[in-house]
Amino acid sequence: MVDLVREGALALITLNRPEALNALSFAIIREIGAAIDEAAGWDIRALIFTGAGEKAFCAGADIKELIGRNLMEERAGAELGQQVFAKLDTFKVPSIAAINGYAFGGGLELATACTFRIASPKAKMGLPEIKLGLIPGYGGTQRLPRLIGEARALDMILTGRTVSAEEALAIGLVHRLAEGDVREAAKALAAEFTGYGLPALAFARAAVQRSMDTPIAQGLRIEADLSTLAYRTEDAAEGLAAFVEKRKPLFQDR
Ligand code: CAA
Repeated sequence: MVDLVREGALALITLNRPEALNALSFAIIREIGAAIDEAAGWDIRALIFTGAGEKAFCAGADIKELIGRNLMEERAGAELGQQVFAKLDTFKVPSIAAINGYAFGGGLELATACTFRIASPKAKMGLPEIKLGLIPGYGGTQRLPRLIGEARALDMILTGRTVSAEEALAIGLVHRLAEGDVREAAKALAAEFTGYGLPALAFARAAVQRSMDTPIAQGLRIEADLSTLAYRTEDAAEGLAAFVEKRKPLFQDR
């Protein structure tokens, strides 16, 4: 149900359950967690998620599986999804959601846990849980306002409405729209940063992530700490020297 393949410096995770629009059964969520853990052991520079087929990235939690669960199972289900998606916050390299079609509920929550989102122009997104008498449970109420602001997040979550790819771009829900095939566009996006040194990429990501939950004075201290660490790397010495010597830097990830 989850395919993990390696293509050079990239790991690709494909949710492969097209008959159910790649809906997130508990088994598939566990498989996503295992795939992320396995990819963490690989020498890669980006992790790309997509959905099998042309119709859906992921239609959310498996609604049929949600019926008839007891309180403990409901809580465990939310925590499982949250824990698996939170792996991406600290994953060693940036992740990209290649949103090839519908991304609803838990599917959009997976995408919002990724570092980047690139969407097909025909993609449709939303957090429609309210229509089921539910609320987002895999991080949506926390990540969406951080990405697009409280007002827009409330608009999406309380109405459950569907957002087009164009609107998603306009409100900052996705970073880019793909001109051609979205999976190829995700690889091209990855190529824009995979040549940089891993330490600088990790420090930059960590500093920006901390801005979301840190008072600014503390955030500035974190930035000073991490930028100092970046200056101390061999990559920084190489990058600065390469600029002065008018040549391309060769980063060694140290
Ligand atoms: N769970 C289980 N099965 C799903 C599913 C889901 N989330 N979404 C679609 N499917 C299944 C359908 O039941 C259908 O299967 P059958 O052919 O066996 O009936 C198949 O996928 C194709 O779906 P549709 O016939 O509905 O396709 P469509 O093109 O007419 O509509 C859609 C597409 C608008 C995405 C529609 O399927 C839909 O609204 N899906 C549910 C979206 C949703 O509400 N997601 C939120 C889930 S709750 C959640 O995610 C909680 C959380 O925070 C973690």
